[in-house]
Amino acid sequence: MRVQRGICGKLQGGFLRRWWAAVGGGVLMIIFAAVLAALFPNIMEVIINHEVALRNGSRAYGWWKEPPVVPRMNIYIYNVTNADEFLNNGAKPILEELGPYIYIQKWDKTNVVFNGNGTVTYNVRKRFVFSEESSGSEDDLVVVPNVPMLSATSQSRHAARFLRLAMASIMDILKIKPFVEVSVGQLLWGYEDPLLKLAKDVVPKEQKLPYDQFGLLYGKNSTHPDRYTIFTGESDITKYGMMNRWNGKDAFHHWTTDDCDTLMGGDGSIFPPHITKQTVLKVFDKDLCRTLPLIFKEEVNTSNDVPGYRFVPPKDVFGAADRIASQQCFCPDGPPCAPEGTFNVSLCQYDSPILLSFPHFYLADPALRESVIGISPPEEEKHQFFIDVQPLMGTTLKARARVQINLAVSQVRDIKQVATFPDIIFPIMWFEDGVDELPIHVTSLLKMAVDVPPIARAALSGALAAGGIIVLIGALICLARAAKRQEKLHLSNPLPPGTSMKQGNLNPAFQGPTK
Ligand SMILES: *[C@@H]1O[C@H](CO)[C@@H](O)[C@H](O)[C@H]1NC(C)=O
Ligand SMILES: *[C@@H]1O[C@H](CO)[C@@H](O)[C@H](O)[C@H]1NC(C)=O
Ligand SMILES: *[C@@H]1O[C@H](CO)[C@@H](O)[C@H](O)[C@H]1NC(C)=O
Ligand SMILES: *[C@@H]1O[C@H](CO)[C@@H](O)[C@H](O)[C@H]1NC(C)=O
Ligand SMILES: *[C@@H]1O[C@H](CO)[C@@H](O)[C@H](O)[C@H]1NC(C)=O
Ligand SMILES: *[C@@H]1O[C@H](CO)[C@@H](O)[C@H](O)[C@H]1NC(C)=O
Repeated sequence: MRVQRGICGKLQGGFLRRWWAAVGGGVLMIIFAAVLAALFPNIMEVIINHEVALRNGSRAYGWWKEPPVVPRMNIYIYNVTNADEFLNNGAKPILEELGPYIYIQKWDKTNVVFNGNGTVTYNVRKRFVFSEESSGSEDDLVVVPNVPMLSATSQSRHAARFLRLAMASIMDILKIKPFVEVSVGQLLWGYEDPLLKLAKDVVPKEQKLPYDQFGLLYGKNSTHPDRYTIFTGESDITKYGMMNRWNGKDAFHHWTTDDCDTLMGGDGSIFPPHITKQTVLKVFDKDLCRTLPLIFKEEVNTSNDVPGYRFVPPKDVFGAADRIASQQCFCPDGPPCAPEGTFNVSLCQYDSPILLSFPHFYLADPALRESVIGISPPEEEKHQFFIDVQPLMGTTLKARARVQINLAVSQVRDIKQVATFPDIIFPIMWFEDGVDELPIHVTSLLKMAVDVPPIARAALSGALAAGGIIVLIGALICLARAAKRQEKLHLSNPLPPGTSMKQGNLNPAFQGPTK
């Protein structure tokens, strides 16, 4: 009581107006607390948008240029164990899945140039090192379809007959066979192929294949010559990380609608921030020959509890064009079009009849898997393509790009070497590429970005509101007290009419100005 009287005494000693000002201040603080609480998400959005954008020297730029991750590629190869039986007796091919052959990678971006219009242009450099954790060695010998040969023969089926016959005699001379026995290292990184070598020597320069070696990952262990231009997010955060140009082109120029032909996708490591469960993420990969849409599947946590969303391709992403109208754009020369669950990338692969699918023909026509022996039924956990993203920042937490490469062989009876090779979609290999987890210093920062803002919002606006309420209540109490006192004085000391206020008024509140 004494203290209160002391404080209130000061009030009475000062201006009463000051206490009304205190009331106003308290109310203002409470209003400000409410506004802060309401606007906090927008403030955070501005901060995040600023932080993630790619600017020379920023942390996001450093992580983008040299990702602090250890990507792994696990490769599984389908070894053909009954090649002769298959060719001579029409038996179903028996495949043995070998692997994983594991490569530890290092990714970075080189020749980075900021264009000054909100885009940045770069090359991608990847280095692959074979891991001893692999179940097998790079020297393992495998038997696989001869991709260059079967591509050439399959392509020749619409050519003139004499060309096919000429092809057959060339293949005879060069002793080319429909199956090759090569080491895993050769199959992946390249071996000299007599047909490609010949093509390189005889085909006119402008139609030339760029190399005389064949390998499923040929040329990937290097700085790739492709120039990528992506949006930095500085001018428009909704395009952050999206492809603007690829080798100067603004579209694939393969597909029949703009929607299918667009390059507008991320590289899979960063996406525009503020992702919701309704967002459709788009991934650009030149080997996929299209952008791959991904939709929300479920909520996930990383090993140290950063919450994320798992995004996967929709079930009909490789749907057959005759069943799904929106897929017709991907079949410019059809029908016939690629069967259910496969995607024809021949236009991006020098016209080789390559069909991509998910591993073990996940989501594809079961007949494809049943046309060979030795591929187990697909399982979602093992064979689904997915990317886990941190929705607030758009950072990829974990990713598995899982793709199977198949060769669509067409029977060509005029070429005797392959006359008995039936029409078949022949699986060659599948791989999963991506990162398991981000390093701890990145995830702890992400975790902070997720956990701290709600706490900061509650703490800041809570403290402001509490302060405002204390000031308000204090001021009101004092005002009430002063009013009461005044009333009491007025009651006990009624002034006779006409008495001078200067003598009779004992209200200390009115003494202030005279001091
Ligand atoms: C692949 O299959 C062939 C038989 O076609 C066999 O000789 C070879 O050892 C197999 N490779 C491996 C690594 O098992
Ligand atoms: C980034 O800034 C540094 C120092 O200012 C400069 O040396 C470097 O060339 C810049 N990088 C790019 C890609 O502009
Ligand atoms: C930005 O500039 C680069 C280089 O001049 C150009 O290739 C690209 O198309 C431009 N992008 C936009 C969105 O203007
Ligand atoms: C990739 O290139 C590096 C050298 O740049 C080499 O050390 C490594 O063995 C190569 N990896 C493969 C799989 O060839
Ligand atoms: C993620 O972790 C949080 C808190 O640790 C937990 O409440 C949530 O159920 C977890 N979610 C999943 C999908 O595991
Ligand atoms: C793949 O596309 C090419 C080019 O459009 C076409 O010639 C070929 O017939 C297609 N293959 C399949 C199996 O649909």
